[in-house]
Amino acid sequence: MKKRILGKKGLEVSALGLGCMGMSWAYGRPSDEAESIKVLHHALDIGINFWDTAEIYGPLTNETLLGKALKNKSRDQVIIATKFGFTWKDNNDNTEIRPNGMDSSPAHIKESIEGSLKRLGTDYIDLYYQHRLDSNTPIEDTMHTLAELVKAGKVRHIGLSEVSANTIRRAHAIHPLTAVQSEYSLWDRGVEESVLPTLRELGIGFVPFSPIGRGFLTGKITNLSDLDKNDFRQTLPRFQGDNFEHNINLVKLISKIGEKHAATPVQIALAWLLHQGKDIVPIPGTRHILYLDENAKAVDVQLPDTAWREISDLLSTFRIEGARYPESVLKMVDKSD
Ligand SMILES: NC(=O)c1ccc[n+]([C@@H]2O[C@H](COP(=O)([O-])OP(=O)(O)OC[C@H]3O[C@@H](n4cnc5c(N)ncnc54)[C@H](OP(=O)(O)O)[C@@H]3O)[C@@H](O)[C@H]2O)c1
Repeated sequence: MKKRILGKKGLEVSALGLGCMGMSWAYGRPSDEAESIKVLHHALDIGINFWDTAEIYGPLTNETLLGKALKNKSRDQVIIATKFGFTWKDNNDNTEIRPNGMDSSPAHIKESIEGSLKRLGTDYIDLYYQHRLDSNTPIEDTMHTLAELVKAGKVRHIGLSEVSANTIRRAHAIHPLTAVQSEYSLWDRGVEESVLPTLRELGIGFVPFSPIGRGFLTGKITNLSDLDKNDFRQTLPRFQGDNFEHNINLVKLISKIGEKHAATPVQIALAWLLHQGKDIVPIPGTRHILYLDENAKAVDVQLPDTAWREISDLLSTFRIEGARYPESVLKMVDKSD
């Protein structure tokens, strides 16, 4: 697998990472642990060494899973990215636990990192992201605490997730950021307006999450009823009823372009992101070796300029219906510009 470099401090990672969230959380029942470990090891075998997790995934169990997969592996074979900053409360009723707030106070970060290191079975994290901006803690205080963790050798690189250009500037002035992670894909290009230009100006890498639209852009989800009733996507406006029926037309049009170049829609979705700049490293999530192999081939997809133009024209005219998150989740996203 080709490599890419994130940020000016130079974190080298595989051109595609592996999103690990779905193995434990958000998309229906957690996968079988042994199966997930096979997927994680297969990722390493094919050169995908950039694993993305978070304290909230599970909560906690996704980091524990990665810790198990890391046993008997040399630590430097894997670049581990994890995140802190959400709070949650156990429902005690077998329903899936969702975040109920944010806490990026220095005391909470210091507690979170110790838990993450323990669960991952390591003494350092390669890339430690704040998961969401905490409106009660100035970003400067968060960054000073993260800089202390870098000094102590517990963290190699610092990142932020779903933040505005303004927050990125304030944070980067305290300590260099290596990467920002936010949603970006063929059906969500909000970061193009101010986030991406700011990252490029400051030399910070970008990690698109949900790069295949939480599975929608594969074209393999044909109906919401295909998904588990606890699946987070059941709550997302753009997956609902008429929105779904309308939005699937984008996937059909992308598929047609892909067919002319022997590429599947998921490969076009990932190749398009990689084509947006060498500073971009998407982290598609999957629980299946078959899908992982399909996705990995996206790095070798070569389209002629005419095909890129065709996709670009399509994106400028096709209007996606429905928000990417329900209102309650959108409220947690930093809009401080
Ligand atoms: N920072 C944040 O706030 C944030 C938010 C969301 C996600 N993330 C991170 O980003 C990662 C990726 O995002 P995501 O998982 O939300 O969405 P995604 O990568 O866009 O899509 C994942 C979904 O696509 C399916 N899929 C993947 N490859 C496929 C293929 N070739 N054919 C058919 N289906 C395929 C997966 O199915 P299976 O799982 O069944 O294989 C899964 O349901 C997450 O794992 C997580 O690490 C971060």
